[in-house]
Amino acid sequence: MSNYKDIIASVKDTRGGIIEAFHALQKEYNYIPAEAFREAARVFKLSEAEAYGVGTFYSYLSFEKRGKYIIRMCESAPCHVAGADEVLKALENHLGIAVGETTPDGKFTLELTECIGQCQVTPVITVNSDPIGNIDPQRIAEVLAPFK
Ligand code: FES
Repeated sequence: MSNYKDIIASVKDTRGGIIEAFHALQKEYNYIPAEAFREAARVFKLSEAEAYGVGTFYSYLSFEKRGKYIIRMCESAPCHVAGADEVLKALENHLGIAVGETTPDGKFTLELTECIGQCQVTPVITVNSDPIGNIDPQRIAEVLAPFK
């Protein structure tokens, strides 16, 4: 895993400033770890309150710990009709967490998403943005096994 100091240093002269750093950190870790956040504030000469204010303006940035793999259940109408609720329950049971939570080992975070344009294979989940279609509750263990 790249060192957060290197990630921040690599973007410190770009136009986007601290937002570029937040973006690059989130890409690497799926969220912005606290120590990396403090380092970014220091490098870009902002107080932590200012840096946090900038970061929270962008809703896609997360300052909460998230897992290595972000599992998202599509909750738009076509997936809903195709049984998304049952798949979501199976995901929660299998992972032992509710939507919005991260497993204690830091591997998985469970979230919801709007339609991702794969309605021909509903219901659909994504793992770090890669879609997996025609999912059913019985397949959850098999589908997630490679990420364990
Ligand atoms: S509604 Fe789920 S992918 Fe389109």
